[in-house]
Amino acid sequence: MKRAIFPGSFDPLTKGHLDIIERSVPLFDEMVIAVVNNPDKDPMFTPEERCRMIAEVLVSTDTGECRMAVESFQGLLVDYAKQKGATAIVRGIRAVSDYDYEVRMALMNRRLEPEIETVFLMAAEEYSYVSSRLLKQVFTLGGRVDGLVPELVEKKMREKTGQ
Ligand code: PNS
Repeated sequence: MKRAIFPGSFDPLTKGHLDIIERSVPLFDEMVIAVVNNPDKDPMFTPEERCRMIAEVLVSTDTGECRMAVESFQGLLVDYAKQKGATAIVRGIRAVSDYDYEVRMALMNRRLEPEIETVFLMAAEEYSYVSSRLLKQVFTLGGRVDGLVPELVEKKMREKTGQ
């Protein structure tokens, strides 16, 4: 049983994240989407709201259930991954600019927990410039984000900001 963790802030979930999730499905038997609960950041959505949104977006049309586990976690990612019995951490790489930060995190995680491997996947080119941070900025300044986030997420962003 190959279980992987896809961790992130997901504030909010973008189509780039979804693209990575879909690319991960054939590679692992099970995926856990892990939403970091980091009180230091000033998020648009609470971890619970982010988990709910992701679970709704990932609902299977066949079963009406979410297709994978979606949870929030606090503390070290490798501790959480170990507790879940995961052997891999999935991270998406968009451009060269992501590389430096991602490699440092992967190597630190390897030092902390050598048995957990970080697997990098590339999102589709059309999402290579999409980040939650940029989307929130554009959206709060009145710009369009349709096509870059799932429709449900855009609706929740409107509700949250009163737009
Ligand atoms: O979507 P993000 O914000 O790029 O995700 C970053 C995340 C959640 C993967 C990273 O901040 C993380 O792993 N946080 C948990 C705390 C931890 O383990 N820190 C050490 C990482 S080397």
